[in-house]
Amino acid sequence: MGTDMNRYRMHINGESVEARRGAWFPVYDPSTEEIIAEAPDADENDVNRAVQAARAAFDSGAWPQTTAQERGRILLRLAERIRKESAMLAELESRNSGKPIVEAEYDMADVATCFEYYGGLATKVAGYVNPVPDNALSLSLKEPVGVAGQIIPWNYPLLMAAWKLAPALAAGCTCVLKPAEQAPLTVLEMARWFADVGLPPGVVNIVTGFGETAGAPLARHPEVNKIAFTGSAAVGKLILKSAVDTIKRVTLELGGKSPNIFFADADFEAAIDGALFGVFINQGEVCSAGSRILVERSIYSRFVEGMAEKAKRIKLGAPLVRETKMGPLVSKEQYERVRAFQELGKREAKLAAGGGRPAGMGKGYYVEPTIFCNVDNSARIAREEIFGPVATVIPFNDEAEAVRIANDTPYGLAAAVWSRDIFKAFRVVKALRAGIVWVNHMQPTYVEAPWGGYKQSGFGRELGPWGIEEYLETKQVHINLNEQPIGWY
Ligand code: NAI
Ligand code: MG
Repeated sequence: MGTDMNRYRMHINGESVEARRGAWFPVYDPSTEEIIAEAPDADENDVNRAVQAARAAFDSGAWPQTTAQERGRILLRLAERIRKESAMLAELESRNSGKPIVEAEYDMADVATCFEYYGGLATKVAGYVNPVPDNALSLSLKEPVGVAGQIIPWNYPLLMAAWKLAPALAAGCTCVLKPAEQAPLTVLEMARWFADVGLPPGVVNIVTGFGETAGAPLARHPEVNKIAFTGSAAVGKLILKSAVDTIKRVTLELGGKSPNIFFADADFEAAIDGALFGVFINQGEVCSAGSRILVERSIYSRFVEGMAEKAKRIKLGAPLVRETKMGPLVSKEQYERVRAFQELGKREAKLAAGGGRPAGMGKGYYVEPTIFCNVDNSARIAREEIFGPVATVIPFNDEAEAVRIANDTPYGLAAAVWSRDIFKAFRVVKALRAGIVWVNHMQPTYVEAPWGGYKQSGFGRELGPWGIEEYLETKQVHINLNEQPIGWY
């Protein structure tokens, strides 16, 4: 590592800082396997410093007592800055995460939209007058939860930061956000603009580092009132455990093994496209990936052939090339994990497409879009979240069996159903145990609509008015209007 290394600093109490112990970790371009930057390798000391800053910004009133109008304006200014710099951000996101540049551009637009949405919503948070029977004015007031600890993954780095920061800030919370160690760069770029757009010091603190050394101390910190986490189910369980001691509020989004269900009466070409898009977008590194593709038996073999045929033509390549439809996986660790599932799948089911590393790609964590057919829903490739471009295609005989297989999973984040029969489609929608269900589509996500899972996919909802609610407490206020208060003694 030369001295000209591109070193990013993290953001604590309005300052750009290194880790106290002076440690750094490398950040990679997964398409070249080369180090492109370094970020501070924070530990508990740095987390404490960040939480202290967030605590002070909250307790002093520096943020929660600004007007909702002012908080909204600041979020809108941040959104404007993001839009202005979106080409730079998209390129950096694409380079650091491996996602195709075109997808990164969509992400940056969504990032700005998310800050705009919550900038607007800040002034719409209102209380309620409770219809108590007494001669009294009974109120429900909405107040911010306090200091929010936010731990996010690497698959949509800046977008996940926006989903966490925007509602928290609109609500009046202060934040300590830990980006994923694989992809911290765009969040750190955004932090450079915090002061410019008017965020007081300490309101948003960004701490970079690894899960055990920086994430865990944040999750258990007694001065943190709420933890919002998106990531693996395994870490979600740890977060929940560490919240017990100080009864933190917790919201978890833990991904899944989402079913994408195709009935024989669906538009065939649209269905093939929907199956591929549902599972391969963003290299399959998507919490709501439609990784279990359930297909009615009468169209099953034709469907698998159609998918395999098109999958072979998906353009893999360098993320910054505009024609690229699939880039490398984010890291060596994720590459090895997905490669292992590809090999496991060859023992558990029949390979219909892909199955390995693409030929002639040279360096980079590339894997082929892979399709397994004749998969039994009890196979590990059908039960475990792979988080890569690996599809399992499972046949079903009738509606009841489709629903049974779809729900036979510990997860419940998302699902989709494809049919031209609105009655059948809606019966299935109601029977599915999942937080998000698409009909004749899969994956579009809007800031106006709720996002979150059933079952072991976690709890709590992000986005829309639901998202801000998770950062609010409700205070009941009772104002007696009798001149003589009622009492027994
Ligand atoms: P992870 O759950 O370990 O990482 C997510 C975030 O949690 C990162 O910021 C990480 O630093 C942090 N973290 C890790 N251990 C922690 C701990 N003990 N305490 C507090 N924070 C901690 O996910 P990872 O290892 O990157 O990926 C492994 C698998 O997890 C993937 O293959 C995928 O199946 C799943 N995953 C699911 C995601 C989703 O959106 N649902 C996102 C990322 C991964
Ligand atoms: Mg991990």
